[in-house]
Amino acid sequence: MFVITGATGNVGRPLVEALLRDGHKVRALTRSPAIADLPAEAEVANIADLPFTGATALFLNPAVVWGGSDALLARAKADGVRRIVTLSSSSAFYPDNPLAGHHLGLERAVEATGLEWTHLRPGAFASNAQDWADQIRAGDVVRGPYARAHSTPIHERDIADVAAVALTGDDLVGARPLLTGPQSLTHADQARVIGEVLGREVRYEEKAPADVVAGMVERGAPAPIAEALLNLWAEAVDRPEQVSPEVERITGRPGLTFAEWAADHAGDFR
Ligand SMILES: NC(=O)c1ccc[n+]([C@@H]2O[C@H](COP(=O)([O-])OP(=O)(O)OC[C@H]3O[C@@H](n4cnc5c(N)ncnc54)[C@H](OP(=O)(O)O)[C@@H]3O)[C@@H](O)[C@H]2O)c1
Repeated sequence: MFVITGATGNVGRPLVEALLRDGHKVRALTRSPAIADLPAEAEVANIADLPFTGATALFLNPAVVWGGSDALLARAKADGVRRIVTLSSSSAFYPDNPLAGHHLGLERAVEATGLEWTHLRPGAFASNAQDWADQIRAGDVVRGPYARAHSTPIHERDIADVAAVALTGDDLVGARPLLTGPQSLTHADQARVIGEVLGREVRYEEKAPADVVAGMVERGAPAPIAEALLNLWAEAVDRPEQVSPEVERITGRPGLTFAEWAADHAGDFR
């Protein structure tokens, strides 16, 4: 039995589907089982109950332990979980990066349990482009910072398929793979690709970084985190990001392109 936290999330849903497809038993955790809309073959349970009995391995999404992971990890261990696959972040490769703190702290807490672990370290999710959905539904312009900032957006299905390998086989025990998409693209490239998938021209227009930080803080982001993110984008201007071979090495198939991600999510932008 595999227990998936954040089961309704970007990575959790395709991970639940991938495990079920391969015939595994899945317990999918959410705060709201009644409205989670998870596959009928999954056992759906409330994360507040920390329901780990009978589980061999756990997928841990940091979003569910912002308040602290001690209780969850202690219960998982006491209930006999043998392996934890952490959804970490590529920021963890740079301990001085303010975005690294929560992920590195969680990685260390998982390692301190003494259980088997794998820490998946993805870079920027392709699904971050969903933040543009309102603007693209309303018009042909996306406004945001640093049009020429590069990243290697990764399809959530690639992360989910790597997580499934880490949960079900032994090859990734003790590994911290860097996961990226198969191409380095700028913000402007990503807007253009979404437009191509929709059959219209979508342009990216630069917004002043200070205004972007102010907007993020207004929506609840801590100022140091917002500023750190903007600094990373500033550094990524005109600097293509290195593509990691890990998704293809681990899953045996090439990573999914941003165009494939946009096609899978076209409905969100129409
Ligand atoms: N975005 C990126 O570029 C990026 C890059 C690297 C790493 N990451 C990591 O990936 C994580 C996001 O993964 P994701 O996109 O799969 O997750 P997600 O879609 O943001 O959220 C996963 C699920 O967690 C539950 N959840 C959210 N907040 C919670 C809370 N405060 N307490 C308990 N449950 C909560 C929600 O499920 P219910 O409402 O059903 O309970 C949600 O569907 C980030 O937190 C970050 O650590 C992100």
